[in-house]
Amino acid sequence: MRILGIESSCDETAAAVVADGRRMLSNVVASQTALHQETGGVVPEVAARAHLRALVPVVRRALADAECSWDDIDAIAATAGPGLPGALVIGLNGARGLAYARGLPLIPVDHIEGHVCANWLLDAEPQLPALALVVSGGHTELLLMHEHGRFVRLGGTRDDAAGEAFDKVARLLGLPYPGGPPISRLAAEATVRRVRLPRAWLGESDDFSFSGLKTAVLHMVQSPGAPPPAEIAWAFEESVVDVLSKKAARAAEREGVASMLVAGGVAANRRLRERVIERSPVPVHIPPPVLCTDNAAMIAAAAFRHLDAAVAPESALDIVPTAVRRGRRWA
Ligand code: KG4
Ligand code: ZN
Repeated sequence: MRILGIESSCDETAAAVVADGRRMLSNVVASQTALHQETGGVVPEVAARAHLRALVPVVRRALADAECSWDDIDAIAATAGPGLPGALVIGLNGARGLAYARGLPLIPVDHIEGHVCANWLLDAEPQLPALALVVSGGHTELLLMHEHGRFVRLGGTRDDAAGEAFDKVARLLGLPYPGGPPISRLAAEATVRRVRLPRAWLGESDDFSFSGLKTAVLHMVQSPGAPPPAEIAWAFEESVVDVLSKKAARAAEREGVASMLVAGGVAANRRLRERVIERSPVPVHIPPPVLCTDNAAMIAAAAFRHLDAAVAPESALDIVPTAVRRGRRWA
């Protein structure tokens, strides 16, 4: 079963072919990073138009890399949300057009579930139930995954997403967008590691909050005699990583899960990867960085678990721009 996946929820136009939800035959990502660096962040309309330009070449490339013709493709999947509305419409409607032309089923996929399913593209198959920590530019979610498609949301951010905090703090430190990688590089240069920034533990809750930390960085940067930027970056990364890894480990212990899954762009962070592995009471699965940030292989992998959700491309269809927290799949 070969699924062509398409992803366009934010600022990467991506297409991939995945066999049986596990074997990646191609994975093409056209990043808009350079475009958004001019504005220091994603301008939704600019992103949507860039998706429109990139979609067809990216799909062609994904088929060529997989050495597939259209006859080898059994279904087409695309991200339906959450994400930027204009950006989602381009990918989903593009997928629908292709499905219509080829007479193939169309499978709309939840982006967050896609991030989680990137862990099924690795050699070791995760054991369920699992605790999933999804940390990206738009989301910070702690999910209890009973089985594919059956998630309970234990907690999430009350304000900024973890990646958003990296992006905003990078801006305060004069670093480019997206902020995660340059903050990590700068933090690694810190020789003195004494600066301490706050952590929002929020008691026993599985929720997160990063806006206070961001404000603390702002005050520190503006204060007379502020520490060097590398030391601030180190302390910021330490604070985020400490809270994410401790809360994920605590929830895994309490829920008695069989494994821990980490996903989303921030899961590319080296210190987060190390700390989660160190603290988790159960085996940890984390995709390689290219499968942590937005990609379409994860969308095809998730779609394989929802073949029953396939729709006829000519049927009425809509995007789901915001996370559905109390819907069918997010209890
Ligand atoms: O999953 P993703 O590509 O897009 C969303 O679905 O949001 O995540 C992008 C986010 C950005 O905020 C970026 O700064 C962050 O992931 N990120 C990182 C690293 N690489 C990307 N954050 C921390 N450390 C990294 N190495
Ligand atoms: Zn994402």
